[in-house]
Amino acid sequence: MSYNLLKGKRGIIFGALDENSIAWKTAERAHEEGAEFVLTNAPVALRMGTINTLAEKTNSQVIPADATNVEDLENLIEKAQEILGGKLDFVLHSIGMSINVRKGKHYTDQNYDWTHKGLDVSAMSFHKLMQTLYKKDAMNEWGSIVALTYMAAQRVFPDYNDMADNKAYLESVARSFGYFFGKDKKVRVNTISQSPTPTSAGQGVKGFTGFMNYAEKMSPLGNATALECADYTLTLFSDLTKKVTLQNLFHDGGFSNMGVSQELMEAMEE
Ligand code: NAI
Repeated sequence: MSYNLLKGKRGIIFGALDENSIAWKTAERAHEEGAEFVLTNAPVALRMGTINTLAEKTNSQVIPADATNVEDLENLIEKAQEILGGKLDFVLHSIGMSINVRKGKHYTDQNYDWTHKGLDVSAMSFHKLMQTLYKKDAMNEWGSIVALTYMAAQRVFPDYNDMADNKAYLESVARSFGYFFGKDKKVRVNTISQSPTPTSAGQGVKGFTGFMNYAEKMSPLGNATALECADYTLTLFSDLTKKVTLQNLFHDGGFSNMGVSQELMEAMEE
């Protein structure tokens, strides 16, 4: 269902790799809600992925940018404003990657070159993105910036590995930069803490299926899907949430406030 929630709004969406990606669903829904936007991803991901299908479907252009490279970000933000015909109203950071996770390196035996790279891609890129938007004065007043995160930033999920630390950094940057963006530009900055979701990044985590089933049984409303995450993200891009900022918002079917559920208790008693 469409509500014209983003009619007249312009933005940039990072991170649509394939049709499972949370960013992919967000782009589809943002298009349905009347937004115009530019899609972006790392050049290597653009070669591997199917983003052109999404671009055609949503009538949008694709500009490659490695989110760790400030020159790429500057170019992206300039070109996006040219293409869209003005400043931006929303930006989605939907980027995550850990080489330690990908290569099965245990948390207690990290390769620190990989740790650095993962931190840069997954967390520092959010600071770089916001700093570039801020310096270029590229956001309209009452614009909205959202990044996606996971609850391992607050609680221990051993197989989430160094991504837990990356997410903690990401959430802190949202608050710290969000202060300046709010004060100086009237722009809000939030993170959405999403349920485990079967995407390329999600499935890279060891034991992901167990992880997902556990969360499903623990959450009174069940896990939130990628499409539901897209819907929630759109509310934060809309004018209906103008005073929501510096928040880490759990979108997880209630998981984060649970101790134990009846279903899990019963499973433990077997
Ligand atoms: P995905 O694999 O579809 O998306 C990750 C994206 O990051 C890909 O499009 C990839 O190309 C992009 N990326 C990697 N390196 C990049 C770089 N240097 N520059 C620009 N882009 C780069 O997976 P998903 O799940 O849609 O991930 C989106 C976000 O949601 C990530 O921040 C992830 O950590 C977060 N998240 C995912 C959950 C899950 O279970 N899938 C749960 C909670 C949060």
